Amino acid sequence: MRFRLIGAIACLIAPGLASSQGTEAGKDVFHAKCLACHAISCNRVGPKLGGIIGRKVGSLPDFEGYSAEMKSAEFVWSDEKLDEFLADPTGTIPGTLMAFAGKLENPSDRRNLIEFLKTGDTSLDLCF
Ligand code: HEC
Repeated sequence: MRFRLIGAIACLIAPGLASSQGTEAGKDVFHAKCLACHAISCNRVGPKLGGIIGRKVGSLPDFEGYSAEMKSAEFVWSDEKLDEFLADPTGTIPGTLMAFAGKLENPSDRRNLIEFLKTGDTSLDLCF
């Protein structure tokens, strides 16, 4: 009886644990692969990434560095679209200025990074 209870509690806790590990791992990926050009709360070489899921591609009015190709692309960023773009930036938006820099070969790196972006965590931001 006691074991069954412990099992039930573990089932309740485990999904939460898995996703917080995911966002931590995603934070490391962001640090290693995106931070040179991006922040969550401000534009840098690349546009700010806060609230990226649900935002139309190439649509920030205060970011002036978009390529014509990204500006004229017609989709809204979803988990799936971000996953596709990070796996193959130029395959998703031919002519993008973010050609190889943000390319992530590893699917779990992409998944964890997307989970991190959804948290809105700005603690790594370098905004001057
Ligand atoms: C070398 C600099 C650089 C790096 C590194 C980089 N990016 Fe970018 N990113 C850019 C630039 C420049 C643009 C604008 C591209 C364009 O307009 O074609 C951009 C655009 C984007 C966009 C589209 C935003 C919008 O407003 O539609 C997303 C999403 C994005 N980057 C995510 C990432 C992620 C996630 C990483 C890390 C895995 C990353 N980038 C790494 C420079 C970079």
